[in-house]
Amino acid sequence: MNDPLIIFDTTLRDGEQSPGASMTRDEKVRIAKILERMRVDVIEAGFPVASPGDFEAVKAVAVAVKDSIVCGLARAVEKDIDRAAEAIKPAKRGRIHTFIATSPIHMQNKLRMTEEQVLERAVWAVKRARQYTADVEFSPEDAGRSELDFLCRVLEAVIEAGASTVNIPDTVGYNLPHQFGALIKSLRERVPNSDKAVFSVHCHNDLGLAVANSLSAVLNGARQVECTVNGLGERAGNASLEEIVMAVRTRRDIFSCDTRLDTTQIVPASRLVSNITGFPVQPNKAIVGANAFAHESGIHQDGVIKKRETYEIMRAEDVGWIANRIVLGKHSGRNAFKSRLKELGIELKSEQELNSTFERFKDLADKKHEIFDEDLQALVTEADLEQGNDHFRLVSLKVCSQTGETPYADVTLAVNGSEAKAGASGSGPVDAAFKAIDSVAGSRGQLLLYSVNNITSGTDSQGEVTVRLERGGRIVNGHGADTDIVIASAKAYINALNKLVTPAERTHPQAGQPI
Ligand code: KIV
Ligand code: ZN
Repeated sequence: MNDPLIIFDTTLRDGEQSPGASMTRDEKVRIAKILERMRVDVIEAGFPVASPGDFEAVKAVAVAVKDSIVCGLARAVEKDIDRAAEAIKPAKRGRIHTFIATSPIHMQNKLRMTEEQVLERAVWAVKRARQYTADVEFSPEDAGRSELDFLCRVLEAVIEAGASTVNIPDTVGYNLPHQFGALIKSLRERVPNSDKAVFSVHCHNDLGLAVANSLSAVLNGARQVECTVNGLGERAGNASLEEIVMAVRTRRDIFSCDTRLDTTQIVPASRLVSNITGFPVQPNKAIVGANAFAHESGIHQDGVIKKRETYEIMRAEDVGWIANRIVLGKHSGRNAFKSRLKELGIELKSEQELNSTFERFKDLADKKHEIFDEDLQALVTEADLEQGNDHFRLVSLKVCSQTGETPYADVTLAVNGSEAKAGASGSGPVDAAFKAIDSVAGSRGQLLLYSVNNITSGTDSQGEVTVRLERGGRIVNGHGADTDIVIASAKAYINALNKLVTPAERTHPQAGQPI
């Protein structure tokens, strides 16, 4: 019998720390529901002290999720721990994850604390968290660059204080696999009470080694891995959930542990996270990239047709790659629509919300006869985006694009409820539309990214557009979907502008500690 390997998903917390990836409460609940369906063991839902919105989101996840443990992050300070405890209170099983940095560079320059002060604070934080729950996780931040003797002292003390999980983060993605594996081995051997806690790892991908480092740690006794869907996360991201889970599952001959995950939920989860955050998945990404199971060369195709295992080490269907299933169409009624949403874990809160989303569905079904799950997710994301965030609203857009002519766009926006019109020419129809929007809205930010992806296959697919804008150091992502990609682009641009007008003050967990 293999040991259980605990999968701790931090898409909603560390993943959300990617610039522009912030999610609304309802979006977090939708992602949490698919993670629960995937049978993820622990869902880190956010950093409750960061803002009232973050607190509400963690609380909503704690209410919605029954099967997975719901975790809230807290620095080793009173207000963070108390806020995290309050947010996870409704959870059937709740965890507090508290942390403080232990590397010389962080202690001296960020915390301005001595080793003894950090040790004392770590123990205090674990004891405070234990007043609220028996499930307490402690992380020595930047463990990958901490001194081994000090790390051992801290871990022994926090386990003694009641931490049931000790998580070893390679916060800046600095370690190499053999080194990180050896670190886990030494810690397990040298910390006298190491058998009283689960050893966890949390690797960042700055050198592209997050998954390799995590797997090396598992081979050396780690029994919890922290990861994110699609490897989402700050800078180069976190270890990717799908790669870790499938490596352990595929190489059962090497690993003496396994997860309880339903891997067929991997691709749907990947698509949902990409749709909600607007971070597209590269086509050659392992497991969830569009080409991950596509065989281009004739020799490969021949081999796969004769015997699949000649070139495939996993089955596409085991990770949820089923051909897009038509789920609904033009003639589907409200009940069919409602029950498909329910199957996807989407519960609309009121009859009014159901009616307006159903209207959108009917409009889409008129343009696109076959409606897939991905279309429904995009529809709900869009309805969510517009809620309470409509300083600027697209009323109409007309574009003229013709060979030999300069593209031109006429736009009407509702600005705080009053309509305003403008027209502009541009190098293409999207450029013209953005310029027309700018002249109504006033120039609001610098365009950092513009990307278009098809949600399903076929030329009648909806295009999903992401626009990233920066203003005054703040980065926001806007999203829009439509069968017309110029309209999708305008929606995405307006969504990003709306985010820029709403102040969003949030504390970053690793920015510093107010001790
Ligand atoms: O990367 C890191 O060190 C973290 C901690 C808060 C666990 O995200
Ligand atoms: Zn991290």
